[in-house]
Amino acid sequence: MGRLFANICETVGRTPVVKIGKLAPSGVNLYVKIEAFNPLGSVKDRLALGVIEDAERTGKLKPGQTVIEATSGNTGIGLAMVCAQRGYPLVVTMAETFSVERRKLMRFLGAQVVITPASGRAVGMVDKAVELAKTHGWFLTRQFENEANADMHSRTTAREIIDDFAGERLDYWVTGYGTGGTLKGVARVLAKERPETKIVVCEPADAAMLTSGTPQQRNADGSPAAAHPAFKPHPMQGWAPDFIPKLLGDVVDSGPIHKVILVAGPDALKWSRELAQKEGIFVGISSGATFAGALQVCAEAPPGANVLCMLPDTGERYLSTPLFADVPADMNEAELAISRSTPSFQMPAAA
Ligand SMILES: Cc1ncc(COP(=O)(O)O)c(C=O)c1O
Repeated sequence: MGRLFANICETVGRTPVVKIGKLAPSGVNLYVKIEAFNPLGSVKDRLALGVIEDAERTGKLKPGQTVIEATSGNTGIGLAMVCAQRGYPLVVTMAETFSVERRKLMRFLGAQVVITPASGRAVGMVDKAVELAKTHGWFLTRQFENEANADMHSRTTAREIIDDFAGERLDYWVTGYGTGGTLKGVARVLAKERPETKIVVCEPADAAMLTSGTPQQRNADGSPAAAHPAFKPHPMQGWAPDFIPKLLGDVVDSGPIHKVILVAGPDALKWSRELAQKEGIFVGISSGATFAGALQVCAEAPPGANVLCMLPDTGERYLSTPLFADVPADMNEAELAISRSTPSFQMPAAA
């Protein structure tokens, strides 16, 4: 079948599910859904398209109106793509702690990025976006509370999973959370159509907010009233902001979560590297983290179980982060030895 797309937004979704060869324990079928195949490289392209299309449909967003969002990066990059294609100016607020390439990517796509101080954490960048939206009459996409985020995942991510596992068992579905949009949108469809599928949620060991059982304080609109007491900074960019988002809280309250797994920061980095080097699957830190959780699921799963693990984004977004800290720019001893093993084109010896 030929595939001619009318614009880039039409290419969002329909990401592949790939079987893990070497890293899965024998006897269990571990699959990964690689969201890096979205046009701008992350699961957040779905959210971006979902919230903009919803706002256009309901008249909340007028032609040419400025869009604003607080985002640690991937949502901003997805929104920048959609806004560029649709002709909306975009302003993004982002805490200074997030990687520099994310800011640059958004600016390259035509967005304006307003950096907020690290001390304000995620709540600070959200408050700044709310204030700017009110002051200037901009459309705030409210990714953490916007039902259009979860709805998009019910319509696309969940349907793709159901179609890909048609006629097959799906014993476990493993995900992390940022906004909780993926979790809410997929979990409710699985709970209805594949009730045998156990829903497993991973969170950083340093930010065990769900595990703590402590409820989130909220404002009337569902946004956080304060940071969650169980939050501590962690390396999984895009995962677990310093509060339990409304969309995530809804899933906790409605009860489909089978288990919450804690993942340590070093394990997230390790499994991202392992996926790259043993499977050729190049994904980011939160993907390594979700994969670490999925391996825990595999270790306890009955023989023959099918496990599906979400991998939210591409590894290319992490060149300036700890994920690449041990990757040198210069030749190491082994590479120098290869170079010296033949006479031509050797680099000059270091002074
Ligand atoms: C890198 C990364 N991983 C995971 C997630 C989780 O996705 P969601 O917002 O649907 O919970 C996000 C988004 O927050 C992300 O940017």
